Amino acid sequence: MCGIIGYIGNEDAVPIIVEGLKKLEYRGYDSAGVAVLNDGRFDVIKKKGRLAALEVEIQNTAQNATPIHGHLGIGHTRWATHGEPSNENAHPHLGNQEKIAVVHNGIIENYHTLRARLQSKGIVFQSETDSEVIPQLAEYYYEAENNLFDTVIKVASRLEGSYALGFMCVDTPDTIIAIKKDNPLIIGVSEHGNFIASDIPAVLKHTNQVYYLNDNELAVLTKEGITFYDTDKERIHKEIETITWSMESAEKGGYEHFMLKEIMEQPMILKNTLAKTLSQPPVDITRFNRIIITACGSAYNAGVVARYVFEKLCRTPVEVELASEFRYKDAIIDEKSLVILVSQSGETADTIAAMREAKAAGASTLAIVNVVGSTIAKECDYCFFTAAGPEIAVATTKAFSAQLLVLYSLAIRFAAQLNKISPAEEKSLRAELEALPDKVNALFAHTEEIQKYAASCIGYKSIFFIGRNIDYAIALEGSLKLKEISYIHSEAYAGGELKHGTIALIEENTLVVAISTCKRLEAKIMSNVEQVASRGANILSIGARHATASAVIPLPETHELFTPSLSVVVLQLFSYYVAANKGLDIDKPRNLAKSVTVE
Ligand code: AGP
Ligand code: GLU
Repeated sequence: MCGIIGYIGNEDAVPIIVEGLKKLEYRGYDSAGVAVLNDGRFDVIKKKGRLAALEVEIQNTAQNATPIHGHLGIGHTRWATHGEPSNENAHPHLGNQEKIAVVHNGIIENYHTLRARLQSKGIVFQSETDSEVIPQLAEYYYEAENNLFDTVIKVASRLEGSYALGFMCVDTPDTIIAIKKDNPLIIGVSEHGNFIASDIPAVLKHTNQVYYLNDNELAVLTKEGITFYDTDKERIHKEIETITWSMESAEKGGYEHFMLKEIMEQPMILKNTLAKTLSQPPVDITRFNRIIITACGSAYNAGVVARYVFEKLCRTPVEVELASEFRYKDAIIDEKSLVILVSQSGETADTIAAMREAKAAGASTLAIVNVVGSTIAKECDYCFFTAAGPEIAVATTKAFSAQLLVLYSLAIRFAAQLNKISPAEEKSLRAELEALPDKVNALFAHTEEIQKYAASCIGYKSIFFIGRNIDYAIALEGSLKLKEISYIHSEAYAGGELKHGTIALIEENTLVVAISTCKRLEAKIMSNVEQVASRGANILSIGARHATASAVIPLPETHELFTPSLSVVVLQLFSYYVAANKGLDIDKPRNLAKSVTVE
């Protein structure tokens, strides 16, 4: 996701836009840009890198040429999804006639088709982004429509995917038009002018009076006021809202920590990631006879979950290796090996080293990363991006869930290529993936229950997470999440293995979190729970209920291979509320870094 802002009013738009972008940088910081309408044409400055680089560029322009200024402008701070961070790929984007300027937050899923159609009409594109199709298409339609309002409606009717958009046109120097679908957009009303913005923080310095735009509503802003329409061009009435948040809490969307905000964003992130994965080119799995997944931390845990999915669907052996081990083990791999590297940041030193070892041994490398333009994204032979947007909390949540989704989608694609699943099975599995976001959303109904139970757990010295099969894999992530942010010692254990030694640690009042979603193994995990309960353990059940459990969080039904996407949300919330009740610095836990770029 990225941050967009627009302003029309009595003041100079440039400083207002730059200040607003500073409050939106948490949404993306690959590049930034501003466009203002000045004397019948657009002045545009765009710069790769953080907002500070744009500010320097604006100052240099003011010193070396004429300062850009105007009362109507739009700005953007980017989180790249299509086209790596660069000046050319930075927003705002203009059509070739430089008549229409646009800022976009979201993903245009049918941009390939639209781009090809426009190129066939002689339109030359300036960037690699999906977003550029919007102003190019707008200028194409504008020739017939001859007004921005009808043009925006027509463009929006052709777009597939997610968008929050701000439009300006040189022929309407007193108007900004905004429209959105799936991505957030607010309209701010102040004494000196009116705003569009991705989020409240961008306008809070000027006003606490905002409208929330709904999907497929248009806002037409002039400095005198705002009118709202639906896409049938009917005027609609909207109620203005008063924001009572502080500036600091506004960046977190009103949540106390970024981590909770990012947990709550997961349904949207899963939708965006699924859409993006479908638009990425296929990989011919028949070229390979070995799959190795290598990563660190939570990304490694995603790999352990994925092994169960790949092996079940593809009937191909899959190995999962810690990147810090893989890089030194002189792995037995060759050109028939596919090494999958999972990494949110794309900059983890151990995972980069593992990737380079794999390439040196002749293996093909496939990246699953969140940051476009990152080292791993650029150096791998294949790259699948998660569309989780910037993840600010050090402990990963939404990016982890997005990694799982890409891995599931790859396993289904590979299984179909290997003829291990029928077209009907493939269709049914994909339908189940499409249904996951709503099922994750349904889980939030248990938030209060989890919060209450977590508050009773802050005194534990050690907490065990057990599960069998894929539930053991996600138990690894549940244990890591708890350790990272609550500093409580924890271990994840295969349910059947506990009795081989570690059960010696179970005593009166030990807490055991039992994850049980695997129907065919339910009786087995329940007997493991019985073993620890009989030694005095307290039980938190996730999924199936154990008779002695002191708390049970049920999960919605889904395919057994996809249950980690549901159980992990409960584990994330449990860890979050334990840490919150301990009053810890959840977004920046001690000793940790968001990207471990050292050995
Ligand atoms: C996850 O909560 C941790 N912050 C950490 O384990 C992380 O997953 C690991 O360092 C890998 O990071 P990456 O995904 O950016 O490669
Ligand atoms: N998809 C657009 C791009 O890559 C916008 C990305 C975003 O919303 O951050 O430029």
